[in-house]
Amino acid sequence: MIRLGVNIDHVATVRQARRTYEPDPAWAAAEAQLGGADGITFHLREDRRHINDRDAAVLKEVVSTKLNMEMAIARPIVEIALRLRPDQCTLVPERREELTTEGGLNVSRLARRVKPAVARLRRLGIEVSAFIEPDADQVLASADVGCTAIELWTGQYAHARTPRAIKAALNRLETAIEVGREAGLLVHAGHGLTYTNVQAVAALEGFTEFNIGHSIVARSVFVGLREAVREMKALIVSAGKH
Ligand code: PXP
Repeated sequence: MIRLGVNIDHVATVRQARRTYEPDPAWAAAEAQLGGADGITFHLREDRRHINDRDAAVLKEVVSTKLNMEMAIARPIVEIALRLRPDQCTLVPERREELTTEGGLNVSRLARRVKPAVARLRRLGIEVSAFIEPDADQVLASADVGCTAIELWTGQYAHARTPRAIKAALNRLETAIEVGREAGLLVHAGHGLTYTNVQAVAALEGFTEFNIGHSIVARSVFVGLREAVREMKALIVSAGKH
């Protein structure tokens, strides 16, 4: 069964629009879990544009499912992760000018920097996942540096507009899943998944976790977060029944 990790960064983004105390991402975590989320995901960015250090500490206290911290491999952030001890760290590329994470981490090029960070996190029993493009060399490099999981970037699939492009993106994901599982990795997916495109990805065999943020938080404005999570979870579960 595929687990659903709900990314709550956007809740903090709304709060930061007024630099106030509401809405609180910790409340969002509680509501998402009541809606059936199997985990809560947040990204502590180096510029702290949405989630801040206080949020990370409170989330660690209130998340009773699985806490997944998305993070750059920058040393100060790694130090925070080591102190916080989330259940899982997902290593992502980070550029200050981007709106959201664009594409995957180039693990094969950055292996010398990624490997010691992974080792330090793993030593504390933290699961480590690398957010990568669905390419065999990135998958194998992630296994080589000691990751226990990979999160395949689904952006190419999400942005594909023609049936042919969609099929090609799904085939690329399918091959990467196979390579990942053969290398002994858990295989997650994320980026750009929505209520209308999630089922084709959930129908592929071999994924263990999806991390979804924007679409769920967008819908929550109208139906509430608990209901938005419930609806996404139902879509994933029904598509995953082979
Ligand atoms: N997974 C990772 C690694 C991400 O960086 C993001 C975006 O923060 C997501 C999943 C969620 O993507 P989206 O907000 O498009 O659902």
